[in-house]
Amino acid sequence: MAILKIVKKDTDEAFLRKKSRPVEQITPRIRTLLDDMVETMRYANGCGLAGVQVGVLRRIVVIETDEGLFEMINPRIIAMAGEQESEEGCLSLPGEWGITKRPMYVTARALNRDGEEYEIVAEGLLAKAICHELDHLDGVLYTDKVIRKIED
Ligand code: NI
Repeated sequence: MAILKIVKKDTDEAFLRKKSRPVEQITPRIRTLLDDMVETMRYANGCGLAGVQVGVLRRIVVIETDEGLFEMINPRIIAMAGEQESEEGCLSLPGEWGITKRPMYVTARALNRDGEEYEIVAEGLLAKAICHELDHLDGVLYTDKVIRKIED
């Protein structure tokens, strides 16, 4: 496994704005990438990481909360409800936080590393993380959705 370099907004925003393409086949290379993304996320103390953030324009996301580790390939949100306003940050924008408005409940579907489709019914932090990471796949950053900046 390897710690990957995280693409930062201040030096490479144009790359972070690119749209990621679906994974067509889950190869050993994709599984290694998932392993490396998990290791990189943990090393950076993050709770989510998208492929684009490590220089790979594929629809791949890893998320880890108290509820467990989720590896999501070609993820999509199929339902959302409610609303939450909470603090949000991003490993591509270190040292910055803002308050965003996100759905409180999200249902998402994705493929796991074995190519099997599964569903996550998420609430609160996990719902927010799913929205944040899936936004990355379309070049959207949480700063686009900040309703209040947090000043230190
Ligand atoms: Ni992020």
